[in-house]
Amino acid sequence: MRLKIVAGNWKMNMLKEGGENLASEIVKLVSEHKLDNSIKLILSPPAIHLANLSSILDGQTQVSLAAQNVHQELKGAFTGEISASILASFGLEYVIIGHSERRQYFSESDQLLAQKVKAALEQNLQVIFCCGEGLEVRQAGNHLAYVSKQLTNGLFDLPKESFEKITIAYEPIWAIGTGETASPEQAQEMHAHLRKHIAAKYGNDIAENTSILYGGSCKPSNAKELFACADVDGGLIGGASLKAKDFIAIAQSF
Ligand code: 13P
Repeated sequence: MRLKIVAGNWKMNMLKEGGENLASEIVKLVSEHKLDNSIKLILSPPAIHLANLSSILDGQTQVSLAAQNVHQELKGAFTGEISASILASFGLEYVIIGHSERRQYFSESDQLLAQKVKAALEQNLQVIFCCGEGLEVRQAGNHLAYVSKQLTNGLFDLPKESFEKITIAYEPIWAIGTGETASPEQAQEMHAHLRKHIAAKYGNDIAENTSILYGGSCKPSNAKELFACADVDGGLIGGASLKAKDFIAIAQSF
């Protein structure tokens, strides 16, 4: 059975103390609310928080950490970058790759993302691979083909064993930070389409075991209807992940 996941992408937010407080409060709420064991929580803070937060999360089995990005090379003269081997050496479990903000503001191409995915998997990190279309693509009715191509280009060179370490996050760009959410029907249509696309390449078993998360203005008031969709296995949350109570309320929406 596939994992249910609620991941918080803090993006470039949270100063030192705020980040520590947020992580501590999430840990406290998780134990108070006795979240179902089938649900995994992931926090993805700015990289400099990772080592500190891993101490705060020490002993927690239900809450893991993810980096927001990784370089495609394992070491060398790449000032300002962090490699998968460095992340792994700090005990990190997950990395987000291909967020639309990285694609847009840092010109990350499908080809580069495929290299990053490979580097992360070689270091035994699990990958949360983001995909999603802009408004123009959706309005032109090309969204299904566009997003499945992002998967093909970024992931489909991987061998079957590696694909088991992939989680997909479908994040329509027009819904990110806009307050406009995909309707449950729109999310379900895309998620079912992506699962079929994965099944055609890797078989039904792999497709059925791949968690596909929804992201884009997901919050406590709409998480329930989104998570009720058969192919929506959780969320990648931006703004609402910066408030511990909202984040936990989303995790309680399954
Ligand atoms: P918001 O939840 O703020 O729309 O952000 C979604 C997102 O980009 C998560 O990666």
